[in-house]
Amino acid sequence: MEPEPRFCLVSVLLLLLLGLSTGTIFDLPADEGKEVWDYVTVRKDAHMFWWLYYATSPCKNFSELPLVMWLQGGPGGSSTGFGNFEEIGPLDSTLKPRKTTWLQSASLLFVDNPVGTGFSYVKKDGTYARDLATVASDMMVLLESFFNCRPEFQTVPFYIFSESYGGKMAAGIALELHKAIQEGTIKCNFSGVALGDSWISPVDSVLSWGPYLYSMSLLDDQGLAEVSQVAEQVLDAVNKGLYKEATQLWGQAEMVVEQNTDGVNFYNILTKSAPMSAMKSSLEFTQSHLVHLYQRHVRHLNQDNLSQLMNGPIRAKLKIIPEDCSWGGQAESVFLNMEGDFMKPAISIVDELLEAGVNVTVYNGQLDLIVDTMGQEAWVRKLKWADLPKFTQLKWQPLYRDPQSSQTAAFVKSYKNLAFYWILKAGHMVPSDQGDMALKMMKLVTGQE
Ligand SMILES: *[C@@H]1O[C@H](CO)[C@@H](O)[C@H](O)[C@H]1NC(C)=O
Ligand SMILES: *[C@@H]1O[C@H](CO)[C@@H](O)[C@H](O)[C@H]1NC(C)=O
Ligand SMILES: *[C@@H]1O[C@H](CO)[C@@H](O)[C@H](O)[C@H]1NC(C)=O
Ligand SMILES: *[C@@H]1O[C@H](CO)[C@@H](O)[C@H](O)[C@H]1NC(C)=O
Repeated sequence: MEPEPRFCLVSVLLLLLLGLSTGTIFDLPADEGKEVWDYVTVRKDAHMFWWLYYATSPCKNFSELPLVMWLQGGPGGSSTGFGNFEEIGPLDSTLKPRKTTWLQSASLLFVDNPVGTGFSYVKKDGTYARDLATVASDMMVLLESFFNCRPEFQTVPFYIFSESYGGKMAAGIALELHKAIQEGTIKCNFSGVALGDSWISPVDSVLSWGPYLYSMSLLDDQGLAEVSQVAEQVLDAVNKGLYKEATQLWGQAEMVVEQNTDGVNFYNILTKSAPMSAMKSSLEFTQSHLVHLYQRHVRHLNQDNLSQLMNGPIRAKLKIIPEDCSWGGQAESVFLNMEGDFMKPAISIVDELLEAGVNVTVYNGQLDLIVDTMGQEAWVRKLKWADLPKFTQLKWQPLYRDPQSSQTAAFVKSYKNLAFYWILKAGHMVPSDQGDMALKMMKLVTGQE
């Protein structure tokens, strides 16, 4: 099917405005597995998009494999776009098959949330989610509709996997889902939640940036003192419940890190950030600290080449995307509306999940700075969960990509319903950096290995 003529024109104009080449040609490969997608109206004027791929294992029916829902970060990063084409879906962003796709071992459900993300959209400005409670209640509407329309998945073990801010949303969503199942409003076989490089306790991340970078030869004594000083200011604001101020100080802390590290990449410390100038948009004239944070943390998830793919051939394939909705077009508003939520910790939600007997997995990339592993360990130590001392006393076990390999790929520790995976040689986007290990971890978490 040809793209909408009107959209074509708009997109050509946009591309010209952005000074980009329009030469990219995508050819969608012939469909292999079964896929379905749709919108759910989660509130008045708020429409959420989901895209489901049925597992394509050669030896197992989808009904014998788990269903994994993937939640992207940002907030404003698209699961159907970034998670699907850059991380775990069947095709990469050049539409070549991905060897390490999770689809070989699970059915995959990508949801663009919060509303306004990816192909999800709102019709009115006041409709964006402004807190975690709204994010979770919107998702309950979506999941209730999904499991009612797809009853074949009601008995299939259902897992939520997530990344970054998606981890914080996943925790909130998992708790609401657990309650909804108890109350009988949603029929599904919820089996666990996995929090990847997750934004559960942002201030614990910020506080560990200094020591982490220092130990990696990315700060000198002077730099360590400067980073620690601004981190203490973030802590102070969080302790006083001044979350918007804490958000602003978080942005400042990042600038102090950049100045002292010659621009380390927050998503993988062994690489350098793209220079800010390369990422500037028309927004540069109105830049506030929030817009700056948005550009740093969400724009790379909506990079131009992925946007071309989603707004071009993918949109044409899906057919149901409204004309006036462009993929990623509302992402900035999604991000800005969550301003008051960014720095709020969600540790107590994880405690409630553990208390309720929900299986919780935490996984983290060794080279991630924005959500470094030391910060994750710091909030885990703060859990009130009665079995935490037992968990802490255990020794971790090494994991290898395959039985023939002697290269340590990860470490794992688990006790009762809490597991922690230390993923080596991976940054913030674990499946992008260590696809084999990420797939193996998913299989371990879902009881397939
Ligand atoms: C796969 O499972 C579904 C649901 O249980 C069933 O309807 C379908 O017939 C199965 N397909 C095969 C090829 O066994
Ligand atoms: C898209 O752009 C990003 C960043 O510039 C790059 O890392 C990635 O490889 C590109 N992908 C494709 C399919 O060209
Ligand atoms: C949930 O999935 C497990 C594993 O497949 C299965 O044993 C169990 O019966 C399922 N439970 C429900 C309520 O469907
Ligand atoms: C949690 O995980 C364990 C180990 O994989 C499994 O035996 C148990 O059934 C899971 N619990 C729930 C509630 O899914």
